[in-house]
Amino acid sequence: MVDVNIKDYRIADHPIDELFLKRWSPRSFSDKQIEESDLMSLFEAARWAPSGSNKQPWRYIIARSEVDKEKFYSFIKDTNLAWCKKAPVLALIVSDAEANGSHAFDAGTSWGYLALQAMQKGLVTHAMGGFYKDKAREALNIPEQFQPHAVIAIGYQDAKEKLAEKLQQREAPSPRRPLAETVFEGEYRG
Ligand SMILES: Cc1cc2nc3c(=O)[nH]c(=O)nc-3n(C[C@H](O)[C@H](O)[C@H](O)COP(=O)(O)O)c2cc1C
Repeated sequence: MVDVNIKDYRIADHPIDELFLKRWSPRSFSDKQIEESDLMSLFEAARWAPSGSNKQPWRYIIARSEVDKEKFYSFIKDTNLAWCKKAPVLALIVSDAEANGSHAFDAGTSWGYLALQAMQKGLVTHAMGGFYKDKAREALNIPEQFQPHAVIAIGYQDAKEKLAEKLQQREAPSPRRPLAETVFEGEYRG
């Protein structure tokens, strides 16, 4: 794991578990493989997310072999291909639009659980919306009722110097807007 002092980038205004601050989305992945049991722990965490009527509408399609990864490369946009190819695992999260009215919301919760569990295991994740959904549907044989949401790169972090120079500048944990701009009491106050 690359050592990033998270306090140099992120300070919480209220006490929270440090896991929430330490999870961020690097682009520099090492090609170190993930043990099967560690990988399954991530999906196990995702499994326990809450969902409308407990329908668990999320599904994950994963790629680990070169053959399977090539299929993913056929629909991921070039801007993301520039860095995500070194990640040992790519996962597409889709959700069943016929399951409930909250399938997309539920899928987001599930991926959030996965990302936090990954952090706890010393792994990093980076979600990508930058991919062609129709191409993904075709390449992975996804039924019409399932909506693709994001491709997630999963792996171990590598040094930022391993990235192309342009990407190195962006390789740092990002800040957040103040809570007062997010939580409104009584009525919307945007
Ligand atoms: C649904 C979703 C789509 C995203 N799409 C991309 C993407 O296509 N390419 C990329 O480099 N990062 C992408 N990101 C990463 C976000 O830019 C990142 O999560 C955000 O800036 C907050 O930073 P952090 O995850 O490091 O805390 C995406 C994140 C999410 C949740």
